[in-house]
Parts: sequence; C-alpha cells; structure tokens
Amino acid sequence: MVKDFICLLDYSSEEILGFLDFADELKREHKEGTARPLLAGKVLAMIFEKPSLRTRLTFQIGMFQLGGFGVLIDTRLGERESVPDVARNLERWADGIMARTYRHSDLLTLAEHAVVPVINALTDKLHPCQILADSQTLREHLGPDFGSMKLAFVGDGNNVFNSWLSFAARLPLNVTLVCPPGYECDPEILARARETAKGCIEITHDLEAGLKDADAVYTDVWASMGQEDEAAERERAFAPYQVNARVMAMARPGALFMHCLPAHRGSEVTDDVIDAPTSVVFDQAENRLHAQKAVLATLMR
Ligand code: CP
Ligand code: NVA
Repeated sequence: MVKDFICLLDYSSEEILGFLDFADELKREHKEGTARPLLAGKVLAMIFEKPSLRTRLTFQIGMFQLGGFGVLIDTRLGERESVPDVARNLERWADGIMARTYRHSDLLTLAEHAVVPVINALTDKLHPCQILADSQTLREHLGPDFGSMKLAFVGDGNNVFNSWLSFAARLPLNVTLVCPPGYECDPEILARARETAKGCIEITHDLEAGLKDADAVYTDVWASMGQEDEAAERERAFAPYQVNARVMAMARPGALFMHCLPAHRGSEVTDDVIDAPTSVVFDQAENRLHAQKAVLATLMR
C-alpha cells in the first residue's frame, strides 16, 4: 500500500473496500463501546490553509478516540518557509501529517519530502476523505453493490466530483456529472477514470437525461473555497441547476440526497430537499469520523 492518502487512484479496488470495511468495523466498535486505542501515543500534525468544520473536528476527534493526539496548524504553506522544510520539520515530531491546501502540488510536495504518511484533507483538485465517507454512507443506505447504483452529481465538476471519478475508476459505481457548460471536471482525472471504470461515467448539461434512474443526487457549493471572486458569475451559471423538488423528481422515486456540506441553502439546494427524510447529509458527516479513523489507523499504525 502507498505511504500517503492523496488520491483514490493510488489504491486498488480491494484496498478501497478494505478502508470501507474497516470504517464500518470502527463505527460498530465505537457504538458498542469496544473501541481500541490503535494509535496510542501517536501524533497527527493537521495543516489548514482553508476553513473547515467537519474535517477539522473529525480528524481531531478521530485521533483522540484512537488514543492519539491531533495538533492544529493554521497557516499558508510556503509563506514563512519552504514546503519541503515544513515536511522535514513535521516528520521529526509527528507520526502523520494531514493537510488542507489550496494548491494540490503543495500536498504532493509535503508527501514527497516527509517520511511519515500525508493525508489529503481537501485540495483545489481532490477531496478523497469525503468520498470514502460518502461511499460508506451509500453502502449503508443502498447495500454493498456499487455496480447497481447511479450517482448523479449536479453542479460544479470540482474537487469533490473529481474524487467521485477516482472512486469510479476503482469500483463499478455509475457516475454522471450534470453541470452548466464550462464547469466540467478535471480532464486528466476523467481520462484516467474512463481507462479502468467498470461502471458508466457520463458528463451532461441536461438535467432530465443526467438524473434519469439516479439512486442518489449529490450537490456541492457553486463556488468552492478560493473561488469567492467568481461567486456572482457562478450564481448565474448554476441557477438552473439548483437541486429542488422538481429536480429530485427527475431521479428514481426515493432517491437519496447527498451533500458534502457546508450547504448554501437556497442556492445549490432548497430547504425541503436537504431536510427531507431521503437526505443523508448528516450520515455523510458522521461517517467522516469513521472513514478517516480507518485511514489513520491503516497508515499510521
Ligand atoms: N465536507 C467538508 O470537508 O467540510 P469542512 O469544509 O467543514 O471540513
Ligand atoms: N468544493 C468545496 C468542498 C467543501 C467541503 C470546496 O472546495 O470549498
């Protein structure tokens, strides 16, 4: 297994399923009160260049529950010293590094220069921890057969969608991006996913076509962190793609609603959809804890 958790494409199907099974096991143990201190005495250095609620809390709580400790560093990488020097310092004190960065290349540089595992906590390109928790949530609600499911992602072909593509490269989930023209996903990740995907990967601008037979409808903010300057332009482009009751009705009856959160209620999703009984957004948030503990306990043990 590779040292770092940067992109799901770095893992085999078996390894990804291994993370999901381990996450289920850790969740069960946590609920039964039989959790094991698998990382007793270990330290995770947690770098945040961008805001966070879920990622920050679930990594910190996760390390505590595993018997270790998470240290937070809010900084802009490369400003005070070089990124390789940050890595060379942190590896002397910490057993693992988790980073949320603007530039994906900064995360790769950290991984290259640190002997300890580096975990991707979101970059402008990818958000693999989110997709691990989300696929755990999909299995809980729809069963283990990803090949029988279609996930329609309505919105920006961003870091979250790119990670769904990486997932679909390894497991047979059918994935469709429904986006306005000009907001498609990373072409290189799309090409790599299509090389090995067993499910169907589609990109469309047509809501009806993209949502047809969808078992889960996923959306994310229209302007990601770092794209605040484009917010007005994006509001205009994405307005027809708001996930509301009319759009949910284009999917299979009873389709799940998913969102990585934070949600901008009234923009990409309406209250009635996110608050509906078919919405699993807080299950996704809960599973961030268990999925990431599986990653931590696998890489840092
Ligand atoms: N979904 C997610 O990563 O949330 P935060 O930005 O709050 O960490
Ligand atoms: N695409 C969003 C995800 C937030 C969890 C962002 O990058 O801001």
